[in-house]
Amino acid sequence: MAIEKKLQTPSTKPFLRWAGGKKWLLKELDKYVDINNYNSYHEPFIGGGAVYFHLSPRKAIISDSNKELIETYKVIQNNPEEVIKHIKSFERSKEFYYFVRNKKYSNEFEEAARFIYLNQMSFNGLYRVNTNGEYNVPYGYREKYHFDYDNLLRVSLLLKNTVITHQDFEHSILNIKTNDLVFLDPPYTVTHNSNGFIHYNKKLFSLDDQYKLSDTIKKIKNIGAYYILTNAAHQTIREIFENGDKMYEIDRASLIGGKNAIRGNYAELILTNIIK
Ligand SMILES: C[S@@+](CC[C@H](N)C(=O)[O-])C[C@H]1O[C@@H](n2cnc3c(N)ncnc32)[C@H](O)[C@@H]1O
Repeated sequence: MAIEKKLQTPSTKPFLRWAGGKKWLLKELDKYVDINNYNSYHEPFIGGGAVYFHLSPRKAIISDSNKELIETYKVIQNNPEEVIKHIKSFERSKEFYYFVRNKKYSNEFEEAARFIYLNQMSFNGLYRVNTNGEYNVPYGYREKYHFDYDNLLRVSLLLKNTVITHQDFEHSILNIKTNDLVFLDPPYTVTHNSNGFIHYNKKLFSLDDQYKLSDTIKKIKNIGAYYILTNAAHQTIREIFENGDKMYEIDRASLIGGKNAIRGNYAELILTNIIK
């Protein structure tokens, strides 16, 4: 996007807090991605969509395996005003947070409002459900809750040119065409730089899924499309994805944890067939 346009209009930002969000990557991406060079943009692990919003593509397909998340994107695409109306009616208090958390809403607008409200008011903005699929993150007090309604309207406008689908990443391959760009940001299976696997994550994204993702990348390349993968800088991951393409490692300081936060230093892996 031209600099003048960025200065004139506030840019569209993610409307959710999301674990593994890729805000830190945006500066790096700007060095080698010009979104105007590609036909369509795909993001099969959309989460909070930091990269999607930053690039603001004219034509895109976004998806995720989290059904509630995808339903929220769809409702915002179609009728943000109705969602905003409901968010405004929710009180900002601990008591009301638990009231909303325990409540089953009957229409899609209230459900989307509930999703956004809980995301902003919960502890660290985590998304976690119990075995019955019920959201179970505790309340987390912050000085200022972030409900940017103008941004939600901009999000809706951007989403108008985007196809939004609830699906597993493997199905995204069906829509990818020559000269498209695919950004892949899977959940981490292994911890950075150590030999520890994230056991609690086993069901969410297994090592087997990482192999499937590596196959998906082969298919993307055969189609003649471009991809950028981010993953943990871990030897097992390097071996699974090693395919002759450019592999970068970015060291980054990260704030881990909430109240008793510690600063950790770890590396992230970026693999891409885009040549700078
Ligand atoms: C690291 S997060 C993506 C974060 C995102 N890039 C951002 O900036 O917020 C990974 C996402 O993958 C989704 N996911 C997990 N397993 C998946 C699968 N098999 N297929 C598609 N999406 C999946 C999760 O629901 C989560 O939203």
